[in-house]
Amino acid sequence: MILTIILVVVGLCFGGVEADKCCPYPIRTTTISSVNVTSMEFKCVEPIAMKCQNVNGGLIKKIGIAGGSTNTILTVSEEQLLEKTVICTPSSTKWHLEEKPEDEYSSFSCAYMLNDGTWIFQ
Ligand SMILES: *[C@@H]1O[C@H](CO)[C@@H](O)[C@H](O)[C@H]1NC(C)=O
Repeated sequence: MILTIILVVVGLCFGGVEADKCCPYPIRTTTISSVNVTSMEFKCVEPIAMKCQNVNGGLIKKIGIAGGSTNTILTVSEEQLLEKTVICTPSSTKWHLEEKPEDEYSSFSCAYMLNDGTWIFQ
């Protein structure tokens, strides 16, 4: 009886692990202005709101959010603050910006365009 219960519990655990895949945390928290779910708080698939902020005034002309190791610029703003939500897709374990479900990435960074048009990624 006890053995049966143990087997069932073990079975459920392994089945559970198989079924819900988690996305790896997508943001380098050391450099981003702010997130509403830190890497310590992050559990598995929760949406994360990330903020990129221009704290350098006149030096920076535009701010954006870039995806992946190639830093593909996904969204650009001329405001001082850019806030976007990233969403995990458990089946691919990748992330996308809420409004761009077709572009999936493992990571995101803030992008800052200097007055001369060069982009810096953090
Ligand atoms: C973080 O922000 C997103 C988007 O607004 C929201 O869906 C999510 O529930 C927030 N998470 C927390 C822990 O507040």
